[in-house]
Amino acid sequence: MAVLQVIGGGRMGEALVGGLLKAGGLRLDSIRVVEPDPARHRALAEAFPGVDVVGEPGEAEGSVLAVKPGDVAAACEALTSVRPTRVLSVAAGVTVAALEGHLPDTARVVRAMPNTAAFVGAGAAAIAAGSRATEEDLVWAEAVLGAVGTVVRVKEPLLDAVTGLSGSGPAYVFLVAEALVDAGVLAGLPRDVSEALALQTLLGAATLLVHGGESPEALRAAVTSPGGTTAAGLRVLEQHGVRSALLEAVMAATERSRELGI
Ligand SMILES: NC(=O)c1ccc[n+]([C@@H]2O[C@H](COP(=O)([O-])OP(=O)(O)OC[C@H]3O[C@@H](n4cnc5c(N)ncnc54)[C@H](OP(=O)(O)O)[C@@H]3O)[C@@H](O)[C@H]2O)c1
Repeated sequence: MAVLQVIGGGRMGEALVGGLLKAGGLRLDSIRVVEPDPARHRALAEAFPGVDVVGEPGEAEGSVLAVKPGDVAAACEALTSVRPTRVLSVAAGVTVAALEGHLPDTARVVRAMPNTAAFVGAGAAAIAAGSRATEEDLVWAEAVLGAVGTVVRVKEPLLDAVTGLSGSGPAYVFLVAEALVDAGVLAGLPRDVSEALALQTLLGAATLLVHGGESPEALRAAVTSPGGTTAAGLRVLEQHGVRSALLEAVMAATERSRELGI
């Protein structure tokens, strides 16, 4: 029996398998990937030689549902025939109630909202327990998603806010990156120079935020000299309502997530 079965060998499924193998906790032959598409089959078999890539689910200690939300019902139906126990779903917007409705009573469901940075092992994910999930199931889900980033626990109703913040968040940062590159060009830098500096500035600032041991406010104060260049730049960001725009963006995405939930 496979230790872990990943249903859906798309981008998220591949990132999870890659992260788990890199993390070293699981042997190649203890992972099974269920993927119906022949082209994806070949790509996965090449990327992960030794991993079992199959068309139909089998028995497993735990299954990860990594299919598009519209394919969840069919994937659950196929899973039902092999008496699933632990099921971790990363399908955006598919509620615990819907998942439990599609699965037999033997299934203990954990629902997660990961983000795209999981593809580089730097994801931010939240998990919520289904009605039958135990502490051990949550620890298992944390270990699976922990192979590709940070994992926090929330109650299910907060997953919409998670979607608005960290689910959609990478896109906000990509937009900031684009704007900074254009701004550097406007200020006279060649585009390649501006891009190199803007992207490294984002990476450096993010690294300081996570590993610097200081709050965002303290880090910002430390680089803002009285009457200096940074203070002049920050004044313009405040004048244009960047802080308020971010508050509204997260609220709008949270609300949209509530509307789209199934
Ligand atoms: N990508 C992200 O950044 C992100 C972030 C948060 C959450 N998620 C969630 O993660 C899930 C997967 O996203 P993704 O980007 O990895 O999508 P994806 O690249 O489209 O991967 C889904 C894969 O599952 C396969 N599949 C469909 N039905 C199946 C079934 N019944 N059994 C087994 N495999 C099946 C698909 O094959 P076919 O192509 O043949 O249909 C496809 O290869 C989605 O629910 C999404 O909401 C993704």
